[in-house]
Amino acid sequence: MEIIESVTALRKHVSSWRDTKRRLGFVPTMGNLHQGHLQLVEQSRSITDYTVVSIFVNPMQFSAGEDYKTYPRTLTQDCDHLVAMGVDVLFCPSVDEMYPQGMEATTQVEVPKLSYILCGAQRAGHFVGVTTVVSKLFNMVQPDVAFFGEKDVQQLLIIKRMVADLVMPIDIVGVATVREADGLAMSSRNNYLSVEQRRYAPELYNTLLFMVKRIEQGEQDLAALENEALYRLKTYTFKPEYIVIRRQADLMPAAVDDASIVILTAAMLGNTRLIDNISID
Ligand code: PAF
Repeated sequence: MEIIESVTALRKHVSSWRDTKRRLGFVPTMGNLHQGHLQLVEQSRSITDYTVVSIFVNPMQFSAGEDYKTYPRTLTQDCDHLVAMGVDVLFCPSVDEMYPQGMEATTQVEVPKLSYILCGAQRAGHFVGVTTVVSKLFNMVQPDVAFFGEKDVQQLLIIKRMVADLVMPIDIVGVATVREADGLAMSSRNNYLSVEQRRYAPELYNTLLFMVKRIEQGEQDLAALENEALYRLKTYTFKPEYIVIRRQADLMPAAVDDASIVILTAAMLGNTRLIDNISID
């Protein structure tokens, strides 16, 4: 595996693949790789010819007071996983390489509306930081296909919208959430949980399952169900930001007769912010 830190070296490396008509897969990450990330890599390895993974903890998508400084950085361990999986290139640029003019002076890419609801309402500027860095990474790597986890379903939808609106010639593939044995969605932030919080954490997913069951049983009052779910989370010591039933297509509030819905939640457990979702068709 080549480990590349500069855009110039990346371009040079990737351009040698261009004339071969082979497909280039790209998995953008912030590192601290777990089974969820490795699933994205696995997908890329199985449906493309070359795989580039990036590791970049993007300061632009963290708000003041969030965990940018303490976000786990485990490059050596991450490299071992990626080598074992047969990744071709690991791109791990510095902040200066990504934002040579400084972050504040950089051109921003913004998907309106979708970026300002749910997680976007709670985390000022988060999704503009994501779409800006992902656009830059796409321009650097120039992949044919890029892979994102369905755990961040709002991020996935925003990226798909950006790619469609800006006519980027890239297929976006969503990959199913990987869960621990007790149902907790894998996340780098799970490492922050205390032993006691870790015991309660699967109740986030269990609450989603409880809502799915009620909908399948014919629940008509979705707002009342959302309130019940909020209450349920609080009894398990969560401080929920939201737990809502939305349309898959645009994340607007769902009606009982909508065919494709998604239940999304974000909740604090102590100082750790956890998110999860389940889609129902
Ligand atoms: O999902 C993530 O890890 C990040 O938001 C991403 C897509 C790598 C952009 O920094």
